Amino acid sequence: MKPGTNHNMHTYLAVCLWAFGSWAILNLIDSYWRYFSYDAKRAKQGCQRAPRIPNKYPFGLDFFLDAAKADKEKTFPEMMIKRYGTLGPAVKTFEHYTLGNHGISTNDPKNIQAVLATKFKDFGLGERRNNTFRPLLGRGIFAVDGPSWEHSRALIRPQFARHQISDLEQQERHTQHLMRALATDNSGWTCPTNLLTLFFRLTLDRSTEFLFGESVNSQLINLPENLGKATQKVVASDNAIDEVTFAQAFDGAQGWLSDRSRLLDKYWMDDGPGRRRVVRIVHEFVNYFVRRALDHRKQRATAGQKDAESNQSNKPYVFLEELACETQDPIELRDQLCSLLFAGRDTTASFLSWTFWLLVRHPRVFEKLRKSILTSFGTYQTAVAGDTITLTGLKDCSYLQAVLNETLRLFPVVPVNMRQALRDTTLPTGGGPDGKSPIFVAKGQIVDYSVFVLQRTKEYWGEDADMFRPERWEGRKFGWDYLPFNGGPRICLGQQFALTVAGYTIVRLLQRFDKIENLDTDTEPTHNLSLVDNPFKGVLVRLHEADSP
Ligand code: HEM
Ligand SMILES: *[C@@H]1O[C@H](CO)[C@@H](O)[C@H](O)[C@H]1NC(C)=O
Ligand SMILES: *[C@@H]1O[C@H](CO)[C@@H](O)[C@H](O)[C@H]1NC(C)=O
Ligand SMILES: *[C@@H]1O[C@H](CO)[C@@H](O)[C@H](O)[C@H]1NC(C)=O
Ligand SMILES: *[C@@H]1O[C@H](CO)[C@@H](O)[C@H](O)[C@H]1NC(C)=O
Repeated sequence: MKPGTNHNMHTYLAVCLWAFGSWAILNLIDSYWRYFSYDAKRAKQGCQRAPRIPNKYPFGLDFFLDAAKADKEKTFPEMMIKRYGTLGPAVKTFEHYTLGNHGISTNDPKNIQAVLATKFKDFGLGERRNNTFRPLLGRGIFAVDGPSWEHSRALIRPQFARHQISDLEQQERHTQHLMRALATDNSGWTCPTNLLTLFFRLTLDRSTEFLFGESVNSQLINLPENLGKATQKVVASDNAIDEVTFAQAFDGAQGWLSDRSRLLDKYWMDDGPGRRRVVRIVHEFVNYFVRRALDHRKQRATAGQKDAESNQSNKPYVFLEELACETQDPIELRDQLCSLLFAGRDTTASFLSWTFWLLVRHPRVFEKLRKSILTSFGTYQTAVAGDTITLTGLKDCSYLQAVLNETLRLFPVVPVNMRQALRDTTLPTGGGPDGKSPIFVAKGQIVDYSVFVLQRTKEYWGEDADMFRPERWEGRKFGWDYLPFNGGPRICLGQQFALTVAGYTIVRLLQRFDKIENLDTDTEPTHNLSLVDNPFKGVLVRLHEADSP
């Protein structure tokens, strides 16, 4: 190496260090200044301070490191329970200082209700989430507040009210693809299988068909007899993007948004050409369908209304085509579709995975559920989608519903969430020595809430709150102590869709299989938490076909 280069390197390093140092100091000053300015405002509003968990390291680095450690050990949600317990069981709302941010955490139903519903206008996803998610979701429903959100919600919501959403024949077709991946041998047993992998394929296939009108059929592509064969190409621009590339790019893009979320307002530190590349692949893939839907529309318009109606009747419902009746802006269509794929795919797969993770560890519940499914819907061979298995049938199978509810209670798919104050505001409770005074929240402050902690709180769920006991749902009323789908004006739009997909899949699997062997010796859960929470090791099982040796 030339001496000059070395010298330049040193200068470069020094400048970097200097820049970083000044930036850190500025941040520190800014955060202290804000902290004291809150004090004055707090007094004016008649609020008191919530207790604060003290920091061990400057800059609130310890909170970040604790989280990173729990992440690495795959026990992030359990770490949350411990953190909430730090100041004693009575403290449900506390202040903390993390990476230079003064945040508030709460698992108090009254405060969560204020954030999500009664003070809805004061709290939003905020600029941070907007910026963090923008590369993939743009102005889609999952990244915006205010009028942009109202517009998105008004656009998307009616689509979910239509009956097409519960197209059980389409669901049965995808369930059959899942069944093909679960072949049994002479003894009636399947090979050791990770159900999580199969559920992720199921929900990707189902979502893409529902949203785009065409499934990526990842389940079929991955069947042993099809592996290695050329995959069906979906033509996007001049580059053919196949389903496998798309599925991988989509996972990659989601992973990026999740990693950025962890960095809080330093989200911009995680960026780069590799990150941007996967987003480009996803966008190109979705653009292809958007263009196609817009072309169809044009064709229909030129062919005249009569033709359009004549082949409308037996056409399957395609979300994108319906959306394209409301807006023809290709970017908007792309952003909303990406948001919906993002909202609906991993969530439902994770839900199904935790359900089976629990069922294999609770044979009593498995037996009872199977019995009630056979009573309601008959055997695997005799059941017919849309006939013996209907939407109301699924709803009326109360033990099935109780199992679904109980799974979402113990393992809410979104275990932690947050909102940012859009203006100076207050939370109703948690301040002062008795914890009953309102709390001041300054504009820009983050309030995070943990549904995971909330739904395991003994005060609301009893001494056996940590136990999987679907029977607890018999006749139980629930309110702001149960929020797997969130609450208030931004409540999940896909709730019914998700419960139908999950319920239907469980019914068919339990009709066909009478035994399920757990191949994972862990009794305690480990979590692969990105934006949604998955069992880290998946769901390793062997299944036994009913009516076979
Ligand atoms: C078990 C499955 C699911 C769970 C647990 C779940 C949970 C949630 C949660 C917690 C939120 C609130 C996010 C936030 O505001 O920060 C949400 C929002 C949303 N979900 Fe779901 N979801 C599920 C499935 C689905 C499906 C299948 C779809 C659509 C196909 C969907 C569409 C949406 C949409 C569009 C929103 C945004 C609503 C808005 O901001 O106004 N979800 N969901
Ligand atoms: C989010 O980003 C968009 C631009 O992508 C912007 O128009 C909007 O005002 C931003 N903020 C919120 C809170 O939605
Ligand atoms: C609908 O009918 C028109 C005119 O008969 C035809 O050109 C078009 O391909 C049809 N569309 C579909 C989806 O069958
Ligand atoms: C399960 O929870 C839903 C709300 O998410 C509720 O409407 C339903 O009644 C509950 N079902 C049972 C069996 O408790
Ligand atoms: C954890 O989840 C991410 C995102 O869902 C996924 O890409 C990754 O493969 C998972 N890790 C394991 C070990 O399953």
